[in-house]
Amino acid sequence: MKHLNVKELKKMWIDFFESHNHTQIQGSSLVPEQDGSVMFTTAGMQPLVPYLLGKPHPQGKRLFNVQRCLRTNDIDSVGDANHFTFFEMLGRWSLGDYFKEEAIKSSFEFLTSQKYLGLPVERLAVSVFAGDNDAPRDEESAEIWQKCGMPKNQIFYFGKENNWWSAGDSGPCGPDTEMFYVTDVPACGPNCNPSCDCGHYVEIGNNVFMQYVVEKAGDKPKLLEQKNVDTGMGLERNVAALNGYKSAYEIDVMKGAIAVLESISSAKYQDSEEATRSYRIVVDHLRASTFVLGDEHRVSPSNVGQGYVLRRLIRRAVTYSKNIGTDLMQVSKLVDYFVNYYKDECPILEKNHQVIIEELNKEVRKFSNTLNAGLKEFNKAITNVQNNILTGDVAFRLHDTFGFPIELTTELAKQKGIAVDLEGYKNEVKAHQELSRASLTAVFKGGLGSQGEMETKYHTCTHLVLQTLKRMFGNQVEQRGSNITAERMRFDFNLDHKMTEEEKKQLEDIVNQKIAEDLPVSCETMTPDEAHKSGAIGIFDTKYGEQVTVYSIGDYDKQICGGPHVKHTGELGHFKLVKEESSSAGIRRIKGILE
Ligand code: ALA
Repeated sequence: MKHLNVKELKKMWIDFFESHNHTQIQGSSLVPEQDGSVMFTTAGMQPLVPYLLGKPHPQGKRLFNVQRCLRTNDIDSVGDANHFTFFEMLGRWSLGDYFKEEAIKSSFEFLTSQKYLGLPVERLAVSVFAGDNDAPRDEESAEIWQKCGMPKNQIFYFGKENNWWSAGDSGPCGPDTEMFYVTDVPACGPNCNPSCDCGHYVEIGNNVFMQYVVEKAGDKPKLLEQKNVDTGMGLERNVAALNGYKSAYEIDVMKGAIAVLESISSAKYQDSEEATRSYRIVVDHLRASTFVLGDEHRVSPSNVGQGYVLRRLIRRAVTYSKNIGTDLMQVSKLVDYFVNYYKDECPILEKNHQVIIEELNKEVRKFSNTLNAGLKEFNKAITNVQNNILTGDVAFRLHDTFGFPIELTTELAKQKGIAVDLEGYKNEVKAHQELSRASLTAVFKGGLGSQGEMETKYHTCTHLVLQTLKRMFGNQVEQRGSNITAERMRFDFNLDHKMTEEEKKQLEDIVNQKIAEDLPVSCETMTPDEAHKSGAIGIFDTKYGEQVTVYSIGDYDKQICGGPHVKHTGELGHFKLVKEESSSAGIRRIKGILE
C-alpha cells in the first residue's frame, strides 16, 4: 500500500484529472459569497449549483478542484476516530458532458491504477441505488463497476437513506454510487456490509449522478435536462484509510497539531480515552476556527449565524482544553501551526494571521470568564451533593446555562471522587427536548417560524422589550407585530412619536439591566380568566375551559405565550437596538440584536 500524506494525495488528484482533460477551478471561500441558503460551504458542488442546473460554466464541462468544507451537523461525533468539522474535499464534475460510464471508469482507475492509489480490488467495495418510486434501480452503474473488474459480491444495493445525495431539502440531487475501502478492522458478522459503521468499511468517495432536481422541499424529484456527475472524496479520511491508520487524526496535518497541543498541555494525547477525545476536539475545532476567522469573507465570533457557529467551535475547544490542562494563553500556537501548514495553498490565512490570533484570543478570554462562572457553579453544587452523586438536573443546568459538555462535568466530578447521575442527566435532556417540541407546536400556532437556540433567546428578549416599553411609555403600548429570525428580533408597537436618542438608550439599558439580573423564566398553565387576573399581558380569549400558558420573567414581566423561552435572562448576553423607524401611522418598528 502507498504511504501518502495530505499534500501528496492532493497533488495526485490534480495530476490525475489534468491528464484526463479536466480543468481545475478555484476552491471557493469557506464562507459562501452569494448563496444565502447555507452558512458554510459543505461540499464541493455547492458553489456549482447554478451550473449543475444548466447554466454554462465559463471554464467548461469537465472540472475538478480541492474545496475547503465545514460541516457542523456531526459536531458531537468529533472526538471519535474519524470525524472532523473542517475538511477538504477532492471534487470533480461533468456538467452535462460524460455520465455514469466515464465517471465510474475514471474512479476505478484512480483507486486501482499503480500510477495512482494502487489499491487492490479485494480491498474495495461499492454501493449503488436500489431504486424506488422516484428513480429506477441503478443496474447500469453496477454493470459498469463489474466491467471494470469489481466482483459482483463486492457491489451492494441500498435505498435512499444511503445512496441518494443532495446538499439540502431542495436543489440538484440524484442516486449515487459510493466507494469503500475495506480496513483491517474485522467484519462485525456475516451480514456486515458498507452501510454498517463497525469500521470494517470506510467510505472513501462518492459519485453522485445529479440528474434530478427538487424544486421545493418535499416535492418529488424531477428529471433535469442536463445529466451531471458530482464526485467527492474526503481528503483526510482517504489519507487515513490508505495508510491503514486506525484514526484519521494520525494523518500528518493533525498529528503535527497534536504535537503542538501536547507542548502546551499537561496531559498527553495517549494518557486516557478522555484525553485523546479532548485532543481531537481541540485540534479539529481550532483548525476550523482558523479557517473561518481567516476566510476572505472574514467572520468574527458573535451570537448570530456564522459567527455563532464560530463561537461554539472556539468555546468547545476552550472547554475541552481544560480537560487536558492546556495553557490558554498559548492556544494561538495552534493557529501558527495551521497557518504555516496551509499557507502555500491558502495564502489568505497568512495575510490574516494576526487578525486570526487577535480574534481567537479575545473570544478565549471572554469565554474563560463564563467558564469560570460555570466552575463556580459546579463547585457550589458539589458541596451539596449527597451520597457522592451529582444529580442530573445540576449536570443539565451546567450544560444548558454554562455550556459545560457532560464529559467535562463528569471529568471534574471524578477528580473530586464524585459520580454524575448520567441517567438523570439524559432524562433531563429528553424532558427538555420534549418541552421544546411541545412549545414548538404552540409557537407555530403563535405564528413564529423555526425555533433554534437563537430564536428562543430573541423570543425572551421580545418579552423584555415589550414590558420595558410599557413601563416607559404607559400601558397603552401594545405589540403590533413581531418577527424573529436567528439573526435579530423585529418588533412593532404603537407610539405617537419617534423615539429620542435618550429613550432608545433607556430601552437598551433597562433590557440589559434585566438580563444582568439573570431573572428566572417560569411557565404556568391557567385559564384565560386567571391569566387576566394575574396581570399577564396578552389576548384574553374567553372560550370556556380553555387553558393558556403564561410565562413570567422574575417579577418583571408576565405574558400569555406558547414559548419557548430561555431559563434565565442571563443567557441572552447583551441587547443592542440597531434600528428605530416608522412602520405605519402611529406604529414604530424596532430591530434589535443580541451579542
Ligand atoms: N457532493 C457529494 C458528497 O458530498 C459528492 O458526498
